[in-house]
Amino acid sequence: MKRRQALKSFISASILPFLPFKQLFAQEECITTDDILGPYFIEGAPNISNIAPAVSEVPRLYITGTVYANDCVTPVPNALIDVWQANNDGAYEDIDYRGKIYTDDAGNYAFESIQPGKYLNGSYYRPSHIHYKVLYKNNPEFVTQLYFEGDTSIDIDPWASDPSAVDRIIPLTVDDNSNLNGVFDIYLDVDIATVNTIDYNRNDIASKILSIAPNPIVENFELSFYCNIKSEVSIDICDVMGRKATTLYQSSCNKQLNQIQLKKPNLKAGLYIIRLAVDGRKVDAKRVLIP
Ligand SMILES: [Fe+2]
Repeated sequence: MKRRQALKSFISASILPFLPFKQLFAQEECITTDDILGPYFIEGAPNISNIAPAVSEVPRLYITGTVYANDCVTPVPNALIDVWQANNDGAYEDIDYRGKIYTDDAGNYAFESIQPGKYLNGSYYRPSHIHYKVLYKNNPEFVTQLYFEGDTSIDIDPWASDPSAVDRIIPLTVDDNSNLNGVFDIYLDVDIATVNTIDYNRNDIASKILSIAPNPIVENFELSFYCNIKSEVSIDICDVMGRKATTLYQSSCNKQLNQIQLKKPNLKAGLYIIRLAVDGRKVDAKRVLIP
């Protein structure tokens, strides 16, 4: 079992519920593992977040995530993410099914696509996958691939079945519109000293969720958020359609960065949205996975 997985079970067993995650998730525990580039990368993909044309009868796929630095909690703003994938028939195209996305000032990225088709690699099909190349400032390019839970082609694929890929095989949740939703956070081996963090002395910073760690969440997880005004905040967990399941936290906050510990709610496994409301107004949301 991978160390991170072992650690998760360890925490779930509530043996160490009181230790802050910064101590538990040392660098080597959170860093996202790499994967092969493959032959289909093309420079100069369009700067778009909807990378797939409409394909009849094929559900849309929505992937969101946050890019973090190697302390496992500091979001990396303005990182460049190149994604490329096969179309529904398992073929790569020159223009479609490729896109460049920049993370926002809280490290978030999102794109819309369809689930990639499988293609033959010699005598077997590679599992459905999305290629990622992430670049932040002068750091080396980070190249990896995302796979999907339950894909029967994973076991025979040397890259997807590698133990190091386990955190890159994500579940997909079907929403009320039959679309597929997934979350993939990326932990770059980038030092926080090189990351442009938000200057909270500025007056134009919106209230927002900064980080949720770890994600998939565990029994006791950490959430940091910023309040830009003295206000009442509430943090709810909702299903993928935005319907509130329960409130995780309610308190008043001052104009500052807040770091709180939350308990995993008693909800069935799946994808959820953690939503921040300030004085009753919904201001930000991040997707989390309950394993
Ligand atoms: Fe590929």
